Amino acid sequence: MANETMHAVQYDNYGGGTSGLKHVEVPIPNPKKDEVLLKLEATSLNAIDWKAQKGMLWPLLPRRFPHIPGIDVAGKVVKVGPGVKKFKPGDKVVGKVNTLTGGGLAEFAVTMESLTVARPSEVSAANAVGLPVAGLTAHQALTQTAGIKLDGSGQQANILITAASGGVGLYAVQLAKLGNTHITATCGARNIELVKSLGADEVIDYKTPEGAALRSPSGRKYDVVIHCATCIPWSTFEPNLSANGKVIDVTPTPSSLFSVALKKLTFSKKQLVPLFLFPTADNLEYLIKLVKEGKLKTIIDSKYPLAKAEDAWDRISDGHATGKIIVEP
Ligand SMILES: NC(=O)c1ccc[n+]([C@@H]2O[C@H](COP(=O)([O-])OP(=O)(O)OC[C@H]3O[C@@H](n4cnc5c(N)ncnc54)[C@H](OP(=O)(O)O)[C@@H]3O)[C@@H](O)[C@H]2O)c1
Repeated sequence: MANETMHAVQYDNYGGGTSGLKHVEVPIPNPKKDEVLLKLEATSLNAIDWKAQKGMLWPLLPRRFPHIPGIDVAGKVVKVGPGVKKFKPGDKVVGKVNTLTGGGLAEFAVTMESLTVARPSEVSAANAVGLPVAGLTAHQALTQTAGIKLDGSGQQANILITAASGGVGLYAVQLAKLGNTHITATCGARNIELVKSLGADEVIDYKTPEGAALRSPSGRKYDVVIHCATCIPWSTFEPNLSANGKVIDVTPTPSSLFSVALKKLTFSKKQLVPLFLFPTADNLEYLIKLVKEGKLKTIIDSKYPLAKAEDAWDRISDGHATGKIIVEP
């Protein structure tokens, strides 16, 4: 595919929001040794995409300009690097592009073989493509950080999931339900029935005083909080936690990292744990298997063609999606 070009959407500097996006023709990337080149069928947007454009992740992201955003991709393998063993042209896959380099808002993208997995025909590209970032974040928070066993074999735990209607939260509710948990969730009034239908035992509207206080309607204290919302101080969590309660902060900020340090210094039994995603193909394969078996659903907020990437960008940037936003080339 040397010298061939593709349609992509990129930005040239920080800021600018939707009007900073440009539709361009750029060379189709060439897969390096351990990479596969995909003709994309779907890309899903995440909060990290708009945060990086805004400069909130400076100096880490983006690594250089111009930058093609988009990390979650699903598509058909069209070329493999010389070191690739698992895949061949024609395979349908889902994977994660390198967060530092991006590349998902385009017709083609490269993924590392180590973060690419086969997509069975029963799982559509749109249903698979939400999993690499949002699904794996929910999975990591629940299993590795909280220690919840998704076969239901662990001790019963009371869990609170904040922003349960978002991309991460909706996967977290469904995965937590597979474990031995009682789930309290927060979301806006319009999503309460959806979040209940996916497994939450009690749901509170975050715009009510009870919701803002994170108080469990049944009076439970939380053993684990999967915190996917933003701007909730430790003083709001603290009275709602059980003696050894743990808040897993999916949205860590400098001030929450300060609280983490303080908790350690004061030997507090109640913990605040920042979460940074470390994706693995094994965990992604596990989530794809759950989707195939009908045990996990991707709730799709909306779909856009690549030609209307600006509309998708507006939707992800305003922080009010219910589930995943998908762009299809
Ligand atoms: N640490 C990591 O490695 C990692 C990985 C993935 C994601 N994240 C972060 O995790 C956060 C969640 O990601 P996401 O993809 O789930 O976001 P998202 O899809 O944009 O979340 C949107 C949803 O959150 C709800 N919401 C907003 N504020 C809320 C509040 N205070 N209480 C309850 N619900 C609220 C909104 O409901 P309404 O529309 O009703 O307001 C909306 O349905 C983001 O900040 C993202 O950057 C971090």
